[in-house]
Amino acid sequence: MRFLTIIMSLTAAASAADIRLRFEGGCKGGFAVCSNIAARTCCNGERGTQGTPSLGFVNMPHNAAVGGWQATRNGQICGALVASGNTGNGNNACLNPPAGGSRFAGGTWNPSSKKRYAVNEDILECTNSQVADALVLADGKKYNVKGMEEGLVTELYTMVWNGTVKEDVPEVYATFEALE
Ligand SMILES: *[C@@H]1O[C@H](CO)[C@@H](O)[C@H](O)[C@H]1NC(C)=O
Repeated sequence: MRFLTIIMSLTAAASAADIRLRFEGGCKGGFAVCSNIAARTCCNGERGTQGTPSLGFVNMPHNAAVGGWQATRNGQICGALVASGNTGNGNNACLNPPAGGSRFAGGTWNPSSKKRYAVNEDILECTNSQVADALVLADGKKYNVKGMEEGLVTELYTMVWNGTVKEDVPEVYATFEALE
């Protein structure tokens, strides 16, 4: 019994809030992930990439507000809030840009004290930002980008975008493979 308790608390610690910058709409395809991201912290992809077609929010608390941002030129950390939602009674949410909208530059979440859809720019406003710490191919293979040289990160983004499978990822990335 004690053993089971320990396992369960380890599981709880591992399931921290993640924001996934998905490379296909509807939270499909490969993604870049900001693991264990704090509330009101914008998860951004690599600078200079085209943005992301959908945002996945995973392992969130119930009733968490979630938002998607597009960059503006006014120097705000996040930019403009263009889509928002709420995890309701679940722990996950997926945001797509508004019809005709372009891609997201980043996403944030924040616990909400209100039960229903109390989502607005104030609640989701960013006080901080972080970039993705790992990239995951459409086939599920995960690579940590911490300590990875800039050029390799850029190339790995390209490979996640174009649907490269793990067998075709160059050997140089082997040391960055996440153990899962
Ligand atoms: C995907 O991107 C990688 C890295 O730039 C490239 O080597 C590969 O040929 C591309 N594959 C496709 C199918 O476009």
